[in-house]
Amino acid sequence: MLKVEDTGAPVEFSPVLISKFDEIVGRYPQGKQKSALLPILHLVQAEYGWVSVPAMDKVAEYLDLQPIEVYEVATFYTMYFMRPQGKFVLEVCRTGPCCLVGAEKIMDHIEQKLGVKEGEVTPDGLFSWRGVECLAACGFGPVLQIGPEYTFYENLTNDSVDQLIEDLRKKANN
Ligand code: FES
Repeated sequence: MLKVEDTGAPVEFSPVLISKFDEIVGRYPQGKQKSALLPILHLVQAEYGWVSVPAMDKVAEYLDLQPIEVYEVATFYTMYFMRPQGKFVLEVCRTGPCCLVGAEKIMDHIEQKLGVKEGEVTPDGLFSWRGVECLAACGFGPVLQIGPEYTFYENLTNDSVDQLIEDLRKKANN
């Protein structure tokens, strides 16, 4: 069960972000702006790395909704992070078929390699990891994805995970 662990600092959406919201709202009939909630929350998460309470409040204000209407959606879908995450979130499939080919061992390896438990952030702020449900690549497990582009990494081994983490570190430092 996800919990709102931290309310977060006040946010002010940039004009660029607001114009993206406007574009999404424009896809729906007048008065049906609530339909834009999911994609707007995705944009908020891409911008801030997570969905804080002040950000949800601002979204509610923008969409002319009650804050609870935003909270109930954001906390229902596990794709929205309710607390700060690392720059890269490694989401490892933990569903049956992937477990049969070693997903749990991959998660143990990631925990050891990064030195943080599921949902925690490495001290350098670069990484978090968590187990997620089926990623629809069941024939290629163990598999993980990294947002916000949701790039897939399949047939994972401890070595390929080490290489991936190394590559992401280099990417972050360039
Ligand atoms: Fe892992 Fe489907 S069970 S991707």
